Amino acid sequence: MLVRTKVNGEWREADVWPGSSLLFMLREHLGLPGSKNACEQGECGSCSVWLEGELVCACLVLAAQADDAEVRTVEALGHDGELHPVQEAFVEAGAVQCGFCTPGLIVAVTDLLEHDPHPDDAVVREALSGNLCRCTGYQKILDAVRLAAEWMGDGRGGSPA
Ligand code: FES
Ligand code: FES
Repeated sequence: MLVRTKVNGEWREADVWPGSSLLFMLREHLGLPGSKNACEQGECGSCSVWLEGELVCACLVLAAQADDAEVRTVEALGHDGELHPVQEAFVEAGAVQCGFCTPGLIVAVTDLLEHDPHPDDAVVREALSGNLCRCTGYQKILDAVRLAAEWMGDGRGGSPA
């Protein structure tokens, strides 16, 4: 089936098997491998993207559900070779080890800070509870969120629609 989706501001088409996930369409048909495929069961958050502005696990969404809809992925966050402040904060805080969870966390943290620019630790933990990381022990991820909130609060930039 043909799926037509606005991805990161550009209308794209993909001829997918009707049972394909949005994650498979993004990675295998549209050349956007930023969203990672770890569990394919909605457990790890590594495939997090926005569908119509809502954070979803792309492995749990059918590609067909994204037909005529708007999707935003981690690839939309950096611009002209510049990292998004959340990406920069992860680097600065040392919150990236193997990196497999990182794109999903970057998306989830960006979503959180777009809705709540100054979350307390409990809110951050709750917001990121669906994103699993096997490497960092999470402390540096919390440090990165604090740093990103500080930078974005200083007007260092948010993300485009
Ligand atoms: S790959 Fe989608 S939640 Fe793990
Ligand atoms: S950095 Fe390896 S899973 Fe998070």
